[in-house]
Amino acid sequence: MKFSDFGKRFSGEIGIGELMDDLGDALVSDPAPLMLGGGNPAHVPEVQALFRSRMEGILSKVGEFERVIGNYDTPQGSKAFVGALAELFRSEFGWNVGPGNFALTNGSQNAFFSLFNLFAGRFGGAEKKQILLPLTPEYIGYSEVGLEKDFFRSTRPEISMFPNGLFKYQVDFERLKIDQQVGALCFSRPTNPTGNVVTDEEVSRLRELANKQGVPLIIDNAYGTPFPNIIYAEAQPVWDENIVLCLSLSKFGLPSLRTGIVIAREEIIKIVSRMTSVFSLAPGSLGPALALNLVESGDITRVSNEVVQPFYQEKANRAVAQLRSEMGANIPMRIHKPEGSLIPLALV
Ligand SMILES: Cc1ncc(COP(=O)(O)O)c(C=O)c1O
Repeated sequence: MKFSDFGKRFSGEIGIGELMDDLGDALVSDPAPLMLGGGNPAHVPEVQALFRSRMEGILSKVGEFERVIGNYDTPQGSKAFVGALAELFRSEFGWNVGPGNFALTNGSQNAFFSLFNLFAGRFGGAEKKQILLPLTPEYIGYSEVGLEKDFFRSTRPEISMFPNGLFKYQVDFERLKIDQQVGALCFSRPTNPTGNVVTDEEVSRLRELANKQGVPLIIDNAYGTPFPNIIYAEAQPVWDENIVLCLSLSKFGLPSLRTGIVIAREEIIKIVSRMTSVFSLAPGSLGPALALNLVESGDITRVSNEVVQPFYQEKANRAVAQLRSEMGANIPMRIHKPEGSLIPLALV
């Protein structure tokens, strides 16, 4: 059978596809292994109890379950949820946002496809632009997202060494080149799989550089602040009209409900919503329905700070201690400072 160039992109090996296959295959084996990576969040008992109770509420209210499962939302996503998000970010963080600054997507992975191909690729005639990853290693899920060849440009990191066998990747601003061919910058904060958190200072320098070049700064906040806040380092949430901030309900505990959240200027949100209408008509409704009351009450940030963050921090500390004790003192090993996301990275 003959496939188009577009089809051929998906007929070979795809890193993120293999990773997701591995995760799914492992879960059906008996006994299922303890997942130590790959981005699948843990089943945090307190969070699961909250969603169970919310689901029971939906089921017990006459007509509510039928309403949630029986209607498409708009391509921008549940109006109630989008409104509650805007209120949360306005009141808790003082951001100048309204419902028009939010779009839901079927997982944030989906948003990267829309956003990356919006800002990079062909711009009429011969002009081509790339997505610049200012710090690598980066999330493997970006790698096949671009529809054009040479879609990404990346910069090697500076490596800072710390006592205790720790290291940290940092943006090498000396090497970072932003020119006409850069359509947008993107970094994940925290990063999967290194556990790195780009510092507040690095974020403000990247913001300045992106603004100077007139291109957006895309921040992948799937593990970030304010929710699920799987961050153990100091990090302020940031947004302005030149930032495209991508959040997700996955790592808070709802990976199967595929709910991504894009916060951006209205012009971008309109296009992302239209793309959603073409790819999938609308985002799923169940994630927003289950999380609505947590966002309306502001509990999503409280639960992130008081339950989710300490849950993963304790696991990270344990993993580092265990790794050190198993490897002993004679094996040269360095661990990336565990600053966030799900698992510490060790280099031997
Ligand atoms: C850094 C990072 N960004 C984005 C995603 C995508 O998550 P989702 O599509 O479930 O929102 C993941 C998933 O593992 C991730 O690790």
